[in-house]
Amino acid sequence: MTSNKNYDIKDPTLAEAGRKRIEWATREMPVVKLIRERFAKEKPLSGIRISACLHITSETANLALALKEGGANAILCASNPLSTQDDAAAALVEYGIPVNAIKGEDQKTYYKHINTALDQEPQITVDDGADLVTTLHTERSNLISKVIGGTEETTTGVIRLRSLAKAGGLKYPIIAVNDAQTKYLFDNRYGTGQSTIDGITRATNILWAGRKVVICGYGWCGHGIALRARGLGAQVIITEVEPVRAIEAVMDGYQVMPLIEAAQVGDVFITIAGNKNVIDKAHFQVMKDGALLANSGHFNVEINIPVLESLSSGKQQVRPFVEGYTLKDGRRLYLLGEGRLINLAAAEGHPANVMDMSFANQALCMEYMVKNRGKLKPKVYPVPERIDKQVARLKLDSMGINIDTLTPEQEKYLNSWQEGT
Ligand SMILES: NC(=O)c1ccc[n+]([C@@H]2O[C@H](COP(=O)([O-])OP(=O)(O)OC[C@H]3O[C@@H](n4cnc5c(N)ncnc54)[C@H](O)[C@@H]3O)[C@@H](O)[C@H]2O)c1
Repeated sequence: MTSNKNYDIKDPTLAEAGRKRIEWATREMPVVKLIRERFAKEKPLSGIRISACLHITSETANLALALKEGGANAILCASNPLSTQDDAAAALVEYGIPVNAIKGEDQKTYYKHINTALDQEPQITVDDGADLVTTLHTERSNLISKVIGGTEETTTGVIRLRSLAKAGGLKYPIIAVNDAQTKYLFDNRYGTGQSTIDGITRATNILWAGRKVVICGYGWCGHGIALRARGLGAQVIITEVEPVRAIEAVMDGYQVMPLIEAAQVGDVFITIAGNKNVIDKAHFQVMKDGALLANSGHFNVEINIPVLESLSSGKQQVRPFVEGYTLKDGRRLYLLGEGRLINLAAAEGHPANVMDMSFANQALCMEYMVKNRGKLKPKVYPVPERIDKQVARLKLDSMGINIDTLTPEQEKYLNSWQEGT
């Protein structure tokens, strides 16, 4: 090991375990595999420097390997201090892809790792939550002139980037991968739905049947979590601030009420709103003894942890990823995974099969960025429809599912206005 190495991982001896984990994920990622095989022949990213701030998991490893086959020089850092799979990180380093990520790293190390990823002067940035792009625009703006473009993986990141663009501050084009239909309808809904329940189950081993589960936020992730919690027999309560989403939740068969009311009856609270202090002081004050608190939204700001600390006389780690906060009146509230996204903190994040589509979009959008170098403006772009549809078709092909095609007569009918009653 040299002192100027461009990677920082927990333990290189974990590489073999990581390789096995990555190979297992490969079996579940047929679309990324197809793209990787084409990239190996065509080298569409030849010599392109990519700095990618993503959850360092076996699925991300498959994306990184596809980019490498495409000719890119990619360097990775974590998009969350608790989401890194140290074995996958070690294997990636062995495959020749530098990774800067250690599960449980502190805030200072997290940003040091982002800066190491930026040191390679990226031409493409890949972000999940926009911490890398924000660091680039604030502390490292001297590097921006070299950037062709970027991609953003998650809802919270897209919201931040749109705000930056609105304020006139975004300096290069970014594609909102999150907003592809083949991303949010599957990754956010089925991926977050299953893996959030998985994370809470692994951390607590609770029986879901009969529990009152309060879900804050009925976006695409909230839809998935609610669906899976109900499937396990939970009584689901939704809290929302958007009237359309609230009425949708009502008609989907859930109870809907303000959080202050739900706080008094809930057994498990899951916030997935992408917002700050969603679960706050007034709620802690009325919760039942033994309530479980989990966040699956991108940042650990959804549960007001500083206030929970201030209301408590002490806290105790009762299981891995479970901290019991004793309130001054004797009630105990259990915070899971330090309030960080529970599916990645206490479980393995989304199953590879759903990340297959998200990361196929990522790889194809990076190829698109390079092909369209210099033609795009500094704004947030949607994923080109052609790419979204292509990902869906490839996924269907991989599942052996055929669908119908429009007849010429139907195509004409759908593009006409003359025919009516
Ligand atoms: N855990 C994961 O692996 C994972 C995966 C994808 C997305 N995410 C993150 O999850 C969060 C939600 O993503 P999404 O795609 O569902 O977003 P979304 O915008 O579709 O949904 C969020 C919902 O929360 C509601 N909301 C906002 N503030 C609220 C409040 N105070 N109380 C109740 N509801 C409130 C909004 O009205 C909206 O309906 C984001 O932070 C996103 O980045 C996490």
